[in-house]
Order: sequence, then C-alpha cells, then structure tokens
Amino acid sequence: AAEGQKEEQKLTHKLLALLPKEKGWRTTNLYLYQNFWCQQKEIEATKHFKAEDADIIVATIPKSGTTWLKALAFAISTFSAFGTHVPFGSLPDSIRESNCRIVYVCRNPFDTFVSIWHYLVKIRPENFGPFSLEEAFDMYCKGVVGYGPYWDHMLGYYKQSLETPHKVLFLRYENMKKDITFDLKKLAQFLGSPFSMDDERGRVVEEIANLCSFLNLKDLEVNKEGKAISEFENKHLFRKGEVRG
Ligand code: A3P
Repeated sequence: AAEGQKEEQKLTHKLLALLPKEKGWRTTNLYLYQNFWCQQKEIEATKHFKAEDADIIVATIPKSGTTWLKALAFAISTFSAFGTHVPFGSLPDSIRESNCRIVYVCRNPFDTFVSIWHYLVKIRPENFGPFSLEEAFDMYCKGVVGYGPYWDHMLGYYKQSLETPHKVLFLRYENMKKDITFDLKKLAQFLGSPFSMDDERGRVVEEIANLCSFLNLKDLEVNKEGKAISEFENKHLFRKGEVRG
C-alpha cells in the first residue's frame, strides 16, 4: 500500500507541474485542475471518495451556507450528510453513478465573496502578509478562488438539478433566509423523509428551523471552542449570516 501511495504522489507531482497555477489565498499555489482552482491535497482527495446509495452529499462553493445546510439535513435524515466543494463535473464517479442524493446551496456571489475574504484573512498564515479586499476581489472576479470560478460551479449543479431533479436539489441561501420552513419541507421531501401532518401540526418544522438558526448554531459549545478540521476553528464559520448582495 505504501508503494502504491508513493507512486500516486509521484504522478500527482508530475500532473501539478503541467497545470496552470496562480498565487493562492491561504496557500502558496492554486492549480487549475479540470477547469476549477484547487490545492494539491484537494486533487488527491477527489479521487478517493466512494459514495454509498444512502449518502447525502451537501455541495457548495465555500461560504454559501454549507454548515447551515448540513445541520438541517442532519436534523431531518438518519443518513450521513457529507460535504464537498468539488464542481459537479469533477465529482468522483461513485457519487454520480450511485443513488446517493446531492443538495446544493447557492448564495449570491457578492455575499459569498465578502464571507470568504473575512474568513481567509482570519485563517491565512501570518507570514503570507496582508491580503487586501481589492486584491481578493480581483482574483475572485477572475475565478481564481478555491473551487472557482463561481459561475461555472453554480451552473454545473443548477443544470444537473434540472436534468435529474431526483438526484440534485438546488436551494438558494437567500430563499432559505426568507422562508426556511418552505425549503425545509422541500429538503425533507427530497431526502425521502417528508414531514407528516402531525409533524406540521406539532410545529416540528419550526423547531428544526430554530434548532439550526444562525444564533443557535453559533452559540453551541462545539462552535465556540471546537475545530471540525484541524487548522480551522469552528467559530470563524459564523460571522453575520445576512443577505446584502
Ligand atoms: P457570513 O460570513 O456572511 O456571515 P459556510 O458554512 O459555507 O462556510 O458559510 C458560512 C456563511 O454561512 C457565513 O456567512 C455564516 O455566517 C453563514 N451561516 C452559518 N450558519 C448559518 C445559519 N444557521 N443561518 C444563516 N447563515 C448561516
């Protein structure tokens, strides 16, 4: 297995040498791989995920409401909800070929940009120096941001949700902010666990919405002190949670 891993690393290095690259936001480089910008370790991770029929995949471009949607899906369904930022066309075959379902949340590019800038300024290594809003905006508009360009990412999932609505559900952050109970019912239906009349009469939908509200999630101990991924503190995932764009 160790030999296999070494061979794979060698191949990845050869591949990286051929890919177009740009300065990253919080890493030395971003590489243009299969028409989206990502880091080396993301290229490696993309190949290995094996989806099961019962899996729920929460797909987003970063800062679109991943944490919120994961919490909602987790509250509704007994199945595991994995998260990915990889564009639809580059998902591992097992996700596209299995019966697993994908829920995509799209947020307007203005708010997504502002959110990712604030986030990356906080988690970027100090020795990278300052990173101005202007410089970041320029890179974002050129599509040079992790998993960007934004429009290709969003359109890939949007088109797929029209072609195979049983496979991909396309939600909008702004609609969720306006009327979360409407989208929550849609999500439950899509995940095969629709709310019953009794649930609705018992205000279960409102309870779940409230459980996963911005203030409630932000206030959880695990989100004040914890780290879901080793380098990233969960508290940075909750800033304002508003719609401005
Ligand atoms: P802001 O930086 O604009 O506040 P992600 O989870 O994909 O990283 O997205 C993070 C963004 O979602 C942040 O946006 C965060 O505040 C917002 N967010 C997190 N939980 C939320 C919730 N329950 N309701 C609304 N927005 C939420």
